[in-house]
Amino acid sequence: MEAVITLLPGDGIGPDVTAGARSVLSAVADRQGHRFEFHEALIGGAAIDAVGDPLPAATVERCEAADAVFLGAVGGPKWSDPNAKIRPEQGLLKLRSVLGVYANIRPVRIYPELVGASPLKPEILDGVDMLVVRELTGGIYFGKKTRTATSASDLCEYTVAEIERIVRVAARLAGARRGRLCSVDKANVLETSRLWRDVTDRLMASEFPDVAIETLLVDAAAMHLLSRPSDFDVIVTENMFGDILTDEASMLAGSLGMLPSASLGDGAAGLYEPIHGSAPDIAGMGIANPCAAVASAAMMLRHSLGLESEAQAVEQAIADAIAGGARTADIVADGDTQVSTEAMTAEIIRCLN
Ligand code: IPM
Ligand code: MG
Repeated sequence: MEAVITLLPGDGIGPDVTAGARSVLSAVADRQGHRFEFHEALIGGAAIDAVGDPLPAATVERCEAADAVFLGAVGGPKWSDPNAKIRPEQGLLKLRSVLGVYANIRPVRIYPELVGASPLKPEILDGVDMLVVRELTGGIYFGKKTRTATSASDLCEYTVAEIERIVRVAARLAGARRGRLCSVDKANVLETSRLWRDVTDRLMASEFPDVAIETLLVDAAAMHLLSRPSDFDVIVTENMFGDILTDEASMLAGSLGMLPSASLGDGAAGLYEPIHGSAPDIAGMGIANPCAAVASAAMMLRHSLGLESEAQAVEQAIADAIAGGARTADIVADGDTQVSTEAMTAEIIRCLN
């Protein structure tokens, strides 16, 4: 098949891990006879530096014209002045909104050889296999913001339609897995959460009677994620709760550098990004873990390009590279040899069948 892929390397370790994802996608194309055409575009701090805008119009055009978009990471201390009007993160939020990718799917998978990299006890990690479905284009991250000398506010709003469409995505995924959906909210305090719960209960009863629904308050969910993570199948939650809970969930896998994501809308096109940030402390050192980026590329093959067997081959290659002992700095343990971003990528490509 032929596909046009836009790459947005962004800031910090973004370019390092984007190079890893691109190499793996090229290797897949070579071996399976596909033709992927890559175009790079600016986003985030790199775009602010180059043209004064974290999401230039040329980038939006490139993304809208592509079959899929890959993003490395945005942000960094250089652009973090709290009084700055223009910030790298605005570029990413606007891109998600412009592309209409409201459903952010974040799988949490445990590689058996990395159980020791997690701060949790091995018996707690046994059987962990969950998907977190994070609402990505609404809620408090997109509400009106105000700031005066003495106060500030961020508005959190959700509509019935926004809740219905994300719960449908999550329920369909749960139906194709173990048939269990956990909706996370803060309905004891927040009005948006009470709406979220009403809409979810009604929709699940009428459209998904075969999917078991559980509801958890977000503070309790944060605890249950660590005390009984293997009980979860699919979790659905609003934008901010999903952002926070998935960083927490990455510790089940041992490193933020292992978790991929796919952001989808109603069409086939999607935005694929590792859930980690730009890690400015290790930017340019060539030691970042490319696994989350490569696993995000695998999700691109699956969800936007319809190449399921290629996606599985890439996921298997990551697992085999890890089983073979390849370890970047974030997952290295006593006795392991540490490898660079490039060497880890090369090892994944070597394991690709
Ligand atoms: C993520 C990140 C972003 C978010 C930031 C960089 C804006 O933390 O993708 O989880 O909050 O969504
Ligand atoms: Mg985050």
